Amino acid sequence: MWRGLLVIAAWPLMGHDIITTRLTWAREISRIVYHRCASCHRPGGAAPMALLTYDEARPWARSIAEEVLERRMPPWNPVKGFGHFRREAGLNQEEIAVIAEWVEGGAPRGEDRYLPPSPVTLANPKPLAGPRVLIADGLSLKQSVLARGIAVSRLAEGGSLSVWAELPDGAALPLLEIASFRASANIPYEFAQPVNLPAKTLLHLEGSAAVALISSGASPARRSGPSRPRPPAAPAAKPDGRRGAEKSR
Ligand code: HEC
Repeated sequence: MWRGLLVIAAWPLMGHDIITTRLTWAREISRIVYHRCASCHRPGGAAPMALLTYDEARPWARSIAEEVLERRMPPWNPVKGFGHFRREAGLNQEEIAVIAEWVEGGAPRGEDRYLPPSPVTLANPKPLAGPRVLIADGLSLKQSVLARGIAVSRLAEGGSLSVWAELPDGAALPLLEIASFRASANIPYEFAQPVNLPAKTLLHLEGSAAVALISSGASPARRSGPSRPRPPAAPAAKPDGRRGAEKSR
């Protein structure tokens, strides 16, 4: 019986890694994970396990370091440098280094009072929506399109894709390249800046997939806050109001 007690008393000490880093879950790592991983690694998310709390993430620490060092997580389809996107999901070098050092240093928890608000209470960014212009290889645009993003479907897992535009002045404009497609990471890709494609732009598409430009539509896109209610599906034109405006001129 005594021996049993001794073993139990000694185990928490042996179970602890030696902490050799000042980086902690509470301060640095939770912020990176909430920002870059929680959209999928949350209850009901696309990933098989949640990584929202220290207790959830700690058993995965080794695997987390491995996945980010190998750039397998977060999964992000577009090849870097070919087209420019908002919210590029790939971690930057500093974030990768911070995660790796935290894991190497024993993955300490830190003090909970430094934790950021849980991402579960934050609204997810709305996926990019708008009228879609389906494109095909060799398609010449009849009208100009202000493209806010590009969406891909029906591309095989592991498949590749390259989309670029040949502007009327002959300049080539890279839009999207995917080297190894992962359906689980497929979202509409929003360009960093809306891309203006004038009429007579020639589109090139290599690869077997359905690809659509997401255009800004007729009305200029408005930034919507997370709490803004959806606009009612009321008729767009109000003839009475317009007449009134004319009268007042
Ligand atoms: C777009 C959704 C998505 C995002 C964002 C994402 N993951 Fe994942 N993750 C997945 C899916 C799906 C799996 C399960 C299968 C796989 O590997 O694709 C997974 C698996 C994992 C695994 C387990 C790998 C194994 O050993 O099987 C780890 C660890 C992981 N993710 C860490 C991360 C980290 C760390 C981040 C943020 C830096 C992150 N993930 C961001 C979707 C995502």
